Amino acid sequence: MAEPVQTPQASFPPRIFSGIQPSGGLTLGNYLGALKRFVEKQEEGIETIYCMVDMHAITVWQDPEKLRQQTREGAAAFIAAGIDPARSILFNQSQVSAHVELGWIFNCIARMGWMSRMTQFKDKAGKNSENVSLGLFAYPSLMAADILAYKATHVPVGEDQKQHLELTRDIAIKFNNDYGVDFFPVVEPVIEGAATRVMSLRDGTKKMSKSDPSDQSRINLTDDADTIAKKIRKAKTDPEPLPDSLDGLKDRPEARNLVNIYAALAGHTAEQVIRDYAGAQFGTFKPALADLAVAKLEPITLEMNRLMQDPAEIDRILGKGAERADAIARPIVDQVYDVIGMIRSRRG
Ligand code: AMP
Ligand code: TRP
Repeated sequence: MAEPVQTPQASFPPRIFSGIQPSGGLTLGNYLGALKRFVEKQEEGIETIYCMVDMHAITVWQDPEKLRQQTREGAAAFIAAGIDPARSILFNQSQVSAHVELGWIFNCIARMGWMSRMTQFKDKAGKNSENVSLGLFAYPSLMAADILAYKATHVPVGEDQKQHLELTRDIAIKFNNDYGVDFFPVVEPVIEGAATRVMSLRDGTKKMSKSDPSDQSRINLTDDADTIAKKIRKAKTDPEPLPDSLDGLKDRPEARNLVNIYAALAGHTAEQVIRDYAGAQFGTFKPALADLAVAKLEPITLEMNRLMQDPAEIDRILGKGAERADAIARPIVDQVYDVIGMIRSRRG
């Protein structure tokens, strides 16, 4: 890949962009690794742009009616978690054509070798790599376009997206070098907090994921209080009490995961949680965690359900957000066309 170079970032005002796929069922991992942190960024007063990436979702086949439903559900989750559509821009990707336009241009910037190294593609394609869509391979280049169509400088994501953001940096650097411009910012991944990688409740070495066949492995944002509490009480652990330092969690992935989840939900550090629960048995810690999880998640689930009663209102919010997003991205992508030498006579 291109050598990482320090480009002067001063010319790019701070702007946050992030996205979530509407491919069904948001989990506690999405909430702690993404949504909750999106809200924190909004509260910091930085310009925040959040997107339901429906074009990314169709890299694997989606039932059209379900896709619409899941896009609304995702938007409802953003709002229920605290995203204010008046302060942040909230929209779905397909309503702003700048994304796919820039995505194509980036397909011509990104190198096959770079794309072939993407571990998410390798994981998703598995042994089936001859038979997955071309879109699945190109996925990270569209993701770079999502971000750079806004010249976003900071991208809050979970740990699993780090490699895609490194690719975004490489694409920005290569574009700038190829055309001799300082056009795109080199984005900073924002991977922070106690739960950048929430693990499965059944296996502390696997990421909590909506695609895990076992529903017991995850907490869904649509789970009711009872289900949440049961899943936490049944979460896999070991027989030891909690240690008195983080070091003592090193070889205990399940225990470490529950401590991280507690910390992220409570807004504490993992160190603080260990201090409070040193020597506690899981018989004590799990019910405390279950109570905390229900207290934090139940209001969000209830609000999501309320919002989902009025799909037309959600669509209206997404439409309004798309207009605001387009107003930023359109001129940027128009300038890209000029930079790369496309005739733009239609616009006079
Ligand atoms: P996805 O659901 O794959 O579209 O992911 C949406 C966002 O949630 C991304 O920023 C991911 O990094 C984040 N995310 C997904 N699963 C997890 C997890 N288990 N732990 C932390 N963050 C996650
Ligand atoms: N690839 C991200 C994921 O799987 C979703 C995504 C698409 C995204 N475009 C983005 C995240 C732009 C951050 C910025 O979670």
